[in-house]
Amino acid sequence: MKQRCIECGKEYNVNEVVYTCECGGLLEIIYDYDSIELDRDSFKGREFGVWRYIELLPVKDKDKIVSLKEGNTPLYRCKNLEKELGIKELYVKNEGANPTGSFKDRGMTVGVSLANVLGVDVVGCASTGNTSASLAAYSAKANKKCIVLLPEGKVALGKLAQAMFYGAMVIEIAGNFDKALEMVRKLAENKYLYLLNSVNPFRLEGQKTIGFEIAEQLNWDVPDRVVVPVGNAGNISAIWKGFKEFYKIGLIDNLPKMTGIQAEGAKPIVEAFKRGDKDIKPYDNPETVATAIRIGNPVNAKKALDAIYSSNGYAESVSDEEILEAQKLLARREGIFVEPASASSIAGLKKLLEEGVIDRDERVVCITTGHGLKDPDTAIKACEKPIKVKDMDELLKIIKN
Ligand code: F0G
Repeated sequence: MKQRCIECGKEYNVNEVVYTCECGGLLEIIYDYDSIELDRDSFKGREFGVWRYIELLPVKDKDKIVSLKEGNTPLYRCKNLEKELGIKELYVKNEGANPTGSFKDRGMTVGVSLANVLGVDVVGCASTGNTSASLAAYSAKANKKCIVLLPEGKVALGKLAQAMFYGAMVIEIAGNFDKALEMVRKLAENKYLYLLNSVNPFRLEGQKTIGFEIAEQLNWDVPDRVVVPVGNAGNISAIWKGFKEFYKIGLIDNLPKMTGIQAEGAKPIVEAFKRGDKDIKPYDNPETVATAIRIGNPVNAKKALDAIYSSNGYAESVSDEEILEAQKLLARREGIFVEPASASSIAGLKKLLEEGVIDRDERVVCITTGHGLKDPDTAIKACEKPIKVKDMDELLKIIKN
C-alpha cells in the first residue's frame, strides 16, 4: 500500500503526512492488487458498512477504527420517477441515511481512523457544512480536538447545528469555501492540525465504498451510469476508483459512465469538460442555492475529469430552479427528502434525458449525497405556507373545500 502522485508517479509511504506530491499533484492510494484475494463469496456473512471492504482500505488495525456504523445506505428503485422522467430503470443511492446525514461519514471513518494510526490529536477541515458536521462527530468519538472553517452565512442551519453540537471549534471565515480551504491548508502545512478535506487521499478511500455497495446491491451487475453531484470533486473521483478496483480484482465485468452535475453558478468542471480540457478555470465568486456545492476551485478537479473522460461519462450543469424542482419531485414521488445539492443529480438526469445524452433504456443510479433536514430554511422557502386555523368551524371549511 502506497500513496502515489497522479501526475509524476512519485510514491510516498502511507504514514507520511504529505497531502499532495512535491510536484503539486494529487495523491491516490494504491494497493498491491495482485495479493488481494477477494471473490464475490468473500463478503458473505460480513457486517455491512464501510469496513466490510477492509482489504481495500488503508487501516488494518481494528483497534484504531472509529466507526459510527456508516455506509450500507439504501439503494431505492424509483418506479414513480421512472414514469415521470421516462427512463427504464432508475435507482437512488441515498447517502442521507448515514449517521450524520451525508456521504462524508464514509470518508471520515477512514480519515479519523488513520489519524489514530498516525497518533494525531488535532484534526480540521474547511467545509460548506457536511464535512464539518461529519468530522466533528468522528473526532468527538475519537477524543480528538476538531477545528472547522466555514464560509460565514453560507452554511445550512442543520449542518452548523451539528458541527457546534458535536463540540468542534467552529470558525466562520469572511469569504467562501475556497478561501476557507486555502486557509486551513496553511494550518495543515504548518502542522497545527491534520487536514481531513478530500485533498487528503485517505478520505476518498472511505467514499469509494459507495461504488462497492452499488455493485453488491445490484447483484454485481453494475449500472450503465452513475450520476453524482459535484462540488470539490472528491466523491465522483472516489466512486470511480471504487468501481475500477472491483473491476481490477475481477468482482465486476463492466464499469459505469461517471456523470457529474454542478450548479449553474459554480460549474468550472462542466466548462472544462465542454472545452475538452483536463484543467479547470476557477470561479472567483461561485453562487448557488445548493450551498454544499458552492465551490469555485474544486481541489479534485483533475481526478474528477479523469473519471468522466475515462468512463466515457459526461458533465452538465443545472439551474437553481431545476435543483429545487427536482428536490420536490424526489420527495413527492418517492418519499426521499434530500438537500438541494443532492437533488442536482436528479435535475441533471432529467436534463440529460431531455438532451438525449442519456438513453431512455439505460440503468441509472443517482447519488443523493445529503439529508433534506440539513437545510430546513431552503426547504420551507420552497413550499407554500402552512394553513392556519383558529377553530373547528374554520378547519371544516378548509377540509370541505
Ligand atoms: N453533496 C453534498 C450534500 C455535499 O455536502 C458535497 C460536498 C457534495 C455533494 C459534493 O461532493 O465535494 O466530493 O464533489 N460538500 C463538502 C463539504 C464540500 O464541505 O461538506 P464533492
